[in-house]
Amino acid sequence: MSTIMEGKMKSEKDVFDELEDIMLEDASKVYSEQVIKHFMEPQNYGAIEKPDAYTFMSGICGDTIGIFLTVEDDKIDKIGFVTDGCGPTVACGSALTCMVRGKSITDATKISSKDLLEYLGGLPIENTHCADLAVNTLLGALEKLPDRRCLSDSD
Ligand code: FES
Repeated sequence: MSTIMEGKMKSEKDVFDELEDIMLEDASKVYSEQVIKHFMEPQNYGAIEKPDAYTFMSGICGDTIGIFLTVEDDKIDKIGFVTDGCGPTVACGSALTCMVRGKSITDATKISSKDLLEYLGGLPIENTHCADLAVNTLLGALEKLPDRRCLSDSD
């Protein structure tokens, strides 16, 4: 390519920046600022080492979320999530882990999909099940905490 042509061409970064702007503009017509923020910069993403409990669950669409947590003094100390799901699922996992980190186990079990949807400023009706999946996965992980199981110490 000639130097003159190169001067007229957009850089790869410019093209990606423009695409990102267009996508964000479209997304903001459908999703709240809070959803976009948690999707673009997910918090607490990833499995954590030596969790006290974890679980994976799949939603009605087949997407899966995994939640891992550790507990200290009856409070959620560390928490992480992973998912193969859609953007709203990422936003739900991120927001939910932010909501419950540092909370007591009792308070964490009281969080509902409605609370999560309120925190996120709502989701389109076709994505409300993403919030259900995130909350159900959290409850599933909390249920697996050692002192919540009716199992002997030997297993
Ligand atoms: Fe199914 Fe998000 S969990 S679309």
